[in-house]
Parts: sequence; C-alpha cells; structure tokens
Amino acid sequence: MRVAVVGLGHIGLPLAVQYAGRGHEVVGSDRNPAIVEAINAGRSPHLDEQALVDRVPELVAAGRLRATTDNAAAVRGAEVVVVIVPVVVDDAREIDFAPIDAATADIGRGLGAGTLVIYETTLPVGTTRERFAPMLSDASGLTADRDYFLAFSPERVLVGRVFLDLQRYPKIVGGIGPASTQRAVAFYEAALEPGTEVRAVTNAETAEMTKLAETTYRDVNIALANEYARYAAARGIDVLEVIGAANSQPYSHIHLPGVGVGGHCIPVYPHFLFNTDPDLRIPPLAREINDGMAEFAVGAIEERIGSLRDASVLVLGVAYRADVREDAFSSAFPLRDALRSAGAIVHAHDPYFSAEHLRGMGFEPYDLDAPVPVRAAVLQAGHAAYAELDPSAIPGLEMIVDGRNVLDRARWEDRGIGFVGIGR
Ligand SMILES: NC(=O)c1ccc[n+]([C@@H]2O[C@H](COP(=O)([O-])OP(=O)(O)OC[C@H]3O[C@@H](n4cnc5c(N)ncnc54)[C@H](O)[C@@H]3O)[C@@H](O)[C@H]2O)c1
Repeated sequence: MRVAVVGLGHIGLPLAVQYAGRGHEVVGSDRNPAIVEAINAGRSPHLDEQALVDRVPELVAAGRLRATTDNAAAVRGAEVVVVIVPVVVDDAREIDFAPIDAATADIGRGLGAGTLVIYETTLPVGTTRERFAPMLSDASGLTADRDYFLAFSPERVLVGRVFLDLQRYPKIVGGIGPASTQRAVAFYEAALEPGTEVRAVTNAETAEMTKLAETTYRDVNIALANEYARYAAARGIDVLEVIGAANSQPYSHIHLPGVGVGGHCIPVYPHFLFNTDPDLRIPPLAREINDGMAEFAVGAIEERIGSLRDASVLVLGVAYRADVREDAFSSAFPLRDALRSAGAIVHAHDPYFSAEHLRGMGFEPYDLDAPVPVRAAVLQAGHAAYAELDPSAIPGLEMIVDGRNVLDRARWEDRGIGFVGIGR
C-alpha cells in the first residue's frame, strides 16, 4: 500500500517506520523542514528511540520512506492517510485545534476517491465525525464512508518504546460507518506486526472516548492515592505500605501518590472530557486534587519551619517525570506558584535543563557545585541521580519533602534534616 503519515513527531515517525518496515511505501509529511530534511538525508531527527536511528537510514535508502513539507502532496495518490498532529490545551485549558485543522484542510485538498483517512491524535469525542468529516468532504467534494473512508484509532504507546507498545497493546479502531471500520481494521492488520490484536469498536466516538477514559482513569486513580496519602499522613501511617498491601487483592490497582501529575497526556485529556460536559464531577475534582498537591507540599514545609516569607526553597527536578528532558504541564509549575504565593524565593535544579532554561521557567537556577543556602527543598522529579544526592551538598537545609517517595529517609534525618514523604 501507499501510506501517508501526516505529522512526523515522536509518534508519527515511528509509525511511518513501522508501516515501511512491513513493506508499504510511506510518504511522511511535517511542517517542520528540519525534520523533513533529516529524514530525506537518511537520518532520524528524533534520537529517543534506537530503532529509529537504526531503521530510518535503511528504509530511506530502499526507497520505502521519504518525507515532504507538503501535506496535500503526501496525501495525493495515498491509499491510507494516518494523521498524528497534536491537539493541545492552552494556559486556560482551552482546546487548540489550529494545527490539526490546518493539516485536515491540506489533506482534503489532496484526498482522492477510495482513500482511507485515520486520525490517531487524541481527540474530544465527536471530533472525527463532526469536525473533520465536513472539512474533508468540503475540500475534496467527496462523501464520507462512501467515496472516502474515515476512522479514529487512538495511539496508546509511550515515547521511547513505541515499537514494543505497538505490538503489545490492542489497536482500537472505530470508523464513522461500518465500511470505514472494516477498512481501518484491514489496514492495521497489514501494517502492524503479525499477531497484534486489532479490535474494532462500534464507531469513531467509542474509539475517541476509549483514550479519554484510560487517561482520565489514571488521573482519578492518582487523585485517590493522593487523598489516601493525606489521610495516612495525618494518622502516622505509611501510605506506600497500605497501597502495596491493598494491591495484593487482585481487584485493587491503586496508583502511587506524588506531588502532582504532569506530561502531555494525563493532566490534559480529562479536559477533553469535562470541557464538553459540565455534569462530569469526578474528573475535574481529580484535576483539582492533583494540582493541589503543590499546596500540600508547601503546607508540610510551613508546618515544620514556619513562614516561608523571603525564605529560599529549592525544587529538585522540573521535568514532568523521572529522567526525561520534558517539562510539558509539569507539576513543577503549580509548585513554583504555591511556593511563591507563600512568599518563598524559588530555586530549581535539574540535570536535564540548562540554567537559562530554568530561568526562563521562572526559577532561580541552582548550581549544586556552587550552592547557596536554602531552608527547604522539594524533590519534584525522581531523577535517578537524586537518590545519590549528599544532603551536605545543600547548605542551610532544614527540611526536605520527597515528592516522589524515592529518597532514603535515614540519609537525610541522620544529618538533622526534617524529612516528609507524600503520605509517609
Ligand atoms: N507523545 C506521547 O507520548 C504520545 C503518546 C500517545 C499518543 N500521542 C498522540 O500523538 C500526538 C502527537 O504526539 P507527538 O509526541 O508525536 O508530538 P510531536 O510534537 O513530537 O510531533 C508533532 C509533529 O506534528 C507536526 N505538525 C504540527 N502541525 C502540523 C501540520 N499542520 N502539518 C504537518 N505537521 C504538523 C509538528 O511539526 C511535529 O513534528 C499527540 O497529540 C497525542 O495525541 C502522543
């Protein structure tokens, strides 16, 4: 098959490589010329997955993979178009469709009869049918589910292990009509590794909601873990011991508490659900609880050392999770704001970010090789290097909050430093 992949980011390029690797002829498109040039020169523009670095050169050399900045040209003549251009939320958590709308308009201009278009980008329920089908039909003059076919299939993989996840997670597929679903199932059976489960669901809306349901479940689950953490902390109970014991019952799957939830997905996609339905009560509350963990950490510090007015406080790790150089929707930001509201001067250290980058995020960059005194610290990202951190490297420290429950308590308490975990 001739396949077009629109959006060659951290997910789109691995998909293009997967399809080309199964013998299809793949043309990828991206509006970023640097990405397109790298691929056409036989190099992967993304280095987070070794298989990309290894496979892009051979697939380009074999003529099975090439790239263009022209979405419409990539789509022209394609039998299948896979769209993986992001939909994000802005600072006010309003959904921003601009990039994917632009891509869709281009796809409509290149669309020919018989083509199957599959959206993989996480979308609010109803977007494929109500937003994209009219745009594609208007631009092409073709009728959806008759002259061309349209489906949604959520991408559920994790960056850095895309090829592995593509094989082991069932591919959920729902079309805007039965003909579209059937064609999308046939495509994935021919494009993913043999044996990968491809599971048709009733329609595109079911497939759209599936992704929102699984990500929101995780946010809600973590919020519950955070409530348990507060409850346990108030009673001198170690919440991790409770969770470990509770999860020995096969129907209990309690996640881990922490100082907040960050990343592209979990803090974002619940908004796709409740922005469109004010009657949903648990998902917005879970968001509030998880963002409120910043206040919990600040409260724990104030309880032990008093007012933070003009006190220097250090945030260890600004990344949204351990050992990544990614700050999308990081809980370091609500933590920064809560510390500032309490009057603190907020320093930050992160081995993955430069001093300029940290300053740009609104922190005072902290150099562990030339440390200034701080009264308190909060471990926000559980980078492996912090497990080895010598408490004497941070002068003046009176207490530390282990926001990810990864530090060795005795190591800090033995130096007379107060230590609080989340729910420990
Ligand atoms: N990143 C993840 O961990 C992850 C996991 C599962 C699913 N997803 C889904 O994949 C989507 C994409 O994620 P990603 O990590 O690949 O993003 P990314 O930012 O790495 O890549 C997106 C690419 O789209 C390109 N682009 C933007 N507008 C375009 C347009 N109009 N035409 C052509 N190209 C355009 C950008 O230049 C960029 O290269 C997410 O929105 C999400 O729905 C992501």
